[in-house]
Amino acid sequence: MAKCIRVDREDAEKVRKELISIGLLDNTYSPEQEGKFVYFAVKTKPPGRVLITREMKARQEHGKSLGEAMEGKLTKSEQGELVKSFDIVGDIAVVDVPPSLVGKQQLLANAILKNHKNVHVVAKKVGGTGGEFRIRPVEVIAGEDRTHTVCREAGCEFELDLNFVYFSSRLETERTRIAALVKKGEHVLVPFAGVGPYAIRIAKKVPSAKVVAVELNSVAVEFLLKNMERNKCANIAPVRGDASKDLPGDFVNWADRAIMPHPTDGARFLPTIIPCIKKGGMLHYYSFGDAMKPYAAAEMELKTVAMRLGRKVEVVFKRVARPYSKERVQVVVDAKII
Ligand SMILES: C[S@@+](CC[C@H](N)C(=O)[O-])C[C@H]1O[C@@H](n2cnc3c(N)ncnc32)[C@H](O)[C@@H]1O
Repeated sequence: MAKCIRVDREDAEKVRKELISIGLLDNTYSPEQEGKFVYFAVKTKPPGRVLITREMKARQEHGKSLGEAMEGKLTKSEQGELVKSFDIVGDIAVVDVPPSLVGKQQLLANAILKNHKNVHVVAKKVGGTGGEFRIRPVEVIAGEDRTHTVCREAGCEFELDLNFVYFSSRLETERTRIAALVKKGEHVLVPFAGVGPYAIRIAKKVPSAKVVAVELNSVAVEFLLKNMERNKCANIAPVRGDASKDLPGDFVNWADRAIMPHPTDGARFLPTIIPCIKKGGMLHYYSFGDAMKPYAAAEMELKTVAMRLGRKVEVVFKRVARPYSKERVQVVVDAKII
């Protein structure tokens, strides 16, 4: 709850300037408009105004950078070790704490909580992304004791638990790009659906599309079902199972588009997924590549399998979806399957 004042919409700009000039505007919250009124969060009661309390949205903007926030709290060599960037998934900040900084992790976590009003949990990575379900384990080091959160993206909500499912907020741009390509009435197959970020972004943007979302991890499927409900997506058919063997035969030549967001192991599934794509349909294929020749391996995998199946591949677009390490990048290749 925040301390606020309510003003008529037409006076809002004038009042905002006044509040700034007397130093009472509380910038940790965004102003909110409701009907004829605008609500401003304030530090204390401005003269001549009625103070009310109200639920207000904390500003998403970041405060100090982690490097700035830790100034004076770390030695010079510790500053050099500090991993300054971190992901925010829902309201959880996921940080890298190098072994040399474990003794300072509480300070670090508190600095994040103080500077990011939208963060309520700080969790540190305790292993790399691994296993069949591609989970990256984390341990909570500050804030509320949970790894369960809701991530908001482009008007959609994804409920998830970091310790039980895969989710990457870094792929938002890629999901936006793909969702924008889907046309009315398309049949879309998402064989590695996770908690549903691709399937739901598409299903919500194009309600006439039919989306089939396949996922092996039962916990991810449970979240997918909840997320379909949360986002009111009745046009997704979830399939709990293995994309290499649990797709029924009637999916052959069914898809106008297939999305394969499984960059570490996608090649193994190409012989099953390519036959599901109609002649002239589109495949969005994710893979890891050498930073010097990012697309060579992905294109070779696609062409080899397609040729074996008597199909042809026409690459229409490719991009680096995100850097992974100095030597490796994650790429996406969009290919027409003829
Ligand atoms: C890299 S994650 C991508 C998840 C999701 N599309 C996203 O972007 O958040 C790959 C997903 O494929 C799932 N998976 C792995 N093997 C599978 C299989 N044989 N069939 C179906 N899904 C599988 C994993 O559990 C995981 O959720």
